[in-house]
Amino acid sequence: MADRLSARLRQDTRSAHEAARANGFLDALVTGLLPWEAYADLTAQHWFLYEALELAARTMADDPVARAFVFPELVRLPALEADLRFLHGPRWSYRIAALPATTTYCTRLRYAANSHPIGFVAHHYTRYLGDLSGGQYLGRGVARAYGLNGEGHRFFIFDGINPDALTTYYRQLLDTLPWSPYEQDEFITEVLEAYRLNIAVLDDLRRRWT
Ligand code: HEM
Repeated sequence: MADRLSARLRQDTRSAHEAARANGFLDALVTGLLPWEAYADLTAQHWFLYEALELAARTMADDPVARAFVFPELVRLPALEADLRFLHGPRWSYRIAALPATTTYCTRLRYAANSHPIGFVAHHYTRYLGDLSGGQYLGRGVARAYGLNGEGHRFFIFDGINPDALTTYYRQLLDTLPWSPYEQDEFITEVLEAYRLNIAVLDDLRRRWT
C-alpha cells in the first residue's frame, strides 16, 4: 500500500523543517536575546502573510476539495491585528512594512493558493500546522521573554481549539485527499517551496535584528 500522504510529507519535509529551526531567529526571540521590536516585526510580517493566505481561503471556500481545510477557527488575522494594535499602537497599519522576502512569499502565495487546491492546501498546511505544533512552544516562549500576558501574543492562541486534536484531524484529512501520486508530488513540491519562503523571511528578520 502506498504511504499515507501525511507520513510522506513528514518524511520529505524533515530537512526543510530542520533548516527552518536552524535559522536561529525564532530561538533568539524565545530566549529573549532580541529587543521586543524584533518580535513586533515578526508579528507584522505574519500580518502580510495571513492577509494573503486568508483571502485565498475565502476564494477557496467553495472548492470541492479545498473547502474541507477552510476552518473558521483557524483564522488569524483578527488576532494579529489585536497584537499589532498592542505592539505598535492604534496607527499600526502606518507603522508596519513588508520585508522583501515577505513580499516574495505573498506573491507566490497569491499565485499558488488562489487558483488551485494543491497550492492552497500546501500553503495552508505549512503555516497552520506549524502554528498548531511548534508555534505553541514559540507562543509560550515569546510571552515569557517579553512579559506578555494575554495581549500581544493572541496569534499563538487558538480559541476553542485543542491544537493536538486538530493536528490529528488535519493529518487524517490529508490522507483522504483524492490526489494521484503525481498530484501528491506537486503538493509536496509546493510545501517545500513554502518552507523556503518562510526561511527567507526569517533570514531577512535575522539580518535586520542580529
Ligand atoms: C524554532 C523554530 C521551530 C520549532 C522549535 C518547531 C517545532 C516543531 C515541533 C515540535 C513540531 C511537532 C513535530 C511532531 O509532531 O512530531 C513541528 C511541526 C511542524 N512545524 Fe515546526 N518548528 C519551528 C519552526 C517552523 C517553521 C519556521 C515552520 C514553517 C512555517 C514550521 C512548520 C511546521 C509544520 C508544517 C509542522 C507540522 C509537521 C507535520 O506534522 O506534518 N516549523 N514544529
